[in-house]
Amino acid sequence: VGAEMINTDIVTLTRFLTEEQVKHKEATGDFTLLCHALQFSFKSIAYYIRRASLINLTGLAGSSNTTGDDQKKLDIIGNDLFISAMKSSGRVRVLVSEEEEEAIVFEDQPKARYAVVCDPIDGSSNLDAGVSVGTIFGIFKLPEGAKGTKEDLLKPGTELVASGFTMYGASAQLVITMKGGTVNGFTMDNALGEFILTHPDMKIPRKRAIYSVNEGNTMWWEEPVKAWIHSMKNPEEGGKPYSARYIGSMVADAYRTLLYGGIFAYPADKKSPKGKLRILYECAPMAMIFENAGGQAVNSKMDRMLEVVPEHIHDRSGIFMGSYDEVQKVIDIHKKHA
Ligand code: AHG
Ligand code: MN
Ligand code: MN
Ligand code: MN
Repeated sequence: VGAEMINTDIVTLTRFLTEEQVKHKEATGDFTLLCHALQFSFKSIAYYIRRASLINLTGLAGSSNTTGDDQKKLDIIGNDLFISAMKSSGRVRVLVSEEEEEAIVFEDQPKARYAVVCDPIDGSSNLDAGVSVGTIFGIFKLPEGAKGTKEDLLKPGTELVASGFTMYGASAQLVITMKGGTVNGFTMDNALGEFILTHPDMKIPRKRAIYSVNEGNTMWWEEPVKAWIHSMKNPEEGGKPYSARYIGSMVADAYRTLLYGGIFAYPADKKSPKGKLRILYECAPMAMIFENAGGQAVNSKMDRMLEVVPEHIHDRSGIFMGSYDEVQKVIDIHKKHA
């Protein structure tokens, strides 16, 4: 390789965050420090996932969480790594995790102004097969004088200051967006130990004939959902049917959808009238990414996902997210059936 082929001006996540901070004159650096702690949690979770089969970290922990999931050993380790990183950042007042029944309030950080929500390991049923999983996060800024109780977190996604996820796949991919900003993707370079900006200003294709849904749930679906899936598999004369892609790790299905276009759905149905995915740490952070990338995200009532306010920290919702036109089709079919 000629020297001129080597990129000597690498944008790491650290550099990206520093440059973002400089753009915001009012910034204190707290948010940047919080992101550095987040970055470390992703690196350490990735490390243990990759070693799981070698150091006996596969399988169940023997416990279940508040939302009824059987916890895997790595669900618990991922949770502990994440909490420890957030606590030690000194910038987090309160934290909600899928694996913790109650919000964790860091009482020794009374001045910390951020609240963080997380799904430490998304797609944990895929772990033992070595299939991609991820970590999802959302960050809220607490108002002056906030006590840092869980009520501070029962906010719509429109209040998130940042959100994102890391997918632990062939490489670790980190996607982050800030309020009103663009979506940026980073790839972990294991040799450098840094996340490198590889996907600046990500935009989701306007449409694409790919759907991602657990079709095994068909018998419980409402009519509009059945009609929508039917229309994709049975196009009008001369049309081509959609392709189906379902990994069963929302982060991985969402990441592919973000890059290639299409739609990911986990509708509310007759068996789970409130849906499966959780609003605060699964639906809202993802909805923010899809909107900032030019797509849409709605719940099963066809309301904008980011405006949904959870009543409890572990509340669930149906969700449809993806390319703008693909989500619009779902909305239009629901309107026809209303
Ligand atoms: P988690 O592993 O964090 O509990 O999330 C599981 C979610 C999500 O990752 C995935 O999209 C979905 O559950 C898969 O559910 P089904 O097995 O019902 O398709
Ligand atoms: Mn779970
Ligand atoms: Mn999840
Ligand atoms: Mn999880």
